[in-house]
Amino acid sequence: MNQRSITHYIKKVFSIHLKNKTALSLLQLIIITSQIHLAHRAYAQNVKEHIFQRCIACHYPNQEANKIGPSLKNILQRQAGTRIGYRFSPAMIQAGKKGLIWNEKNLTAYLRNPQGFLKGTRMPPIKITSKKEIEDLIAYLKKA
Ligand code: HEC
Repeated sequence: MNQRSITHYIKKVFSIHLKNKTALSLLQLIIITSQIHLAHRAYAQNVKEHIFQRCIACHYPNQEANKIGPSLKNILQRQAGTRIGYRFSPAMIQAGKKGLIWNEKNLTAYLRNPQGFLKGTRMPPIKITSKKEIEDLIAYLKKA
């Protein structure tokens, strides 16, 4: 539900109440608006989690354990190839030693084209091309 449809909905609720000659109290309006807002937020969160479905087979977003890929807990601002207990490719370890940090810019480039960004990485070419999807993914990982 976007801002426009929320406004539309509120207007509709208002007009129904006005027709019935029962004024909608401010409190009712606040309750309705906050419920819509919560529903909207839950929906947005689901979309982000849905995008992480592309990673979940190989990565935990918020647990220490590693899977086929390393855990992505607190991945933002972490030095590449340093998750304890995971056997990274020599390419990833080398990149981390040279100073590769998983900030938004590097993460975006890696997710667009893992091999292109880091030759020799063992991560398969998932290639997420949509800017919006990458933004959602990063937002999800920040909160996970
Ligand atoms: C089929 C398995 C697989 C999938 C799917 C996958 N990855 Fe990976 N990922 C890996 C592997 C394996 C590595 C280790 C790469 C290396 O050592 O070169 C890795 C490494 C990473 C790293 C670097 C971690 C570090 O500590 O340096 C990030 C970040 C990452 N993946 C993000 C993602 C995201 C986000 C997704 C989903 C869009 C995803 N991966 C999907 C297997 C996968």
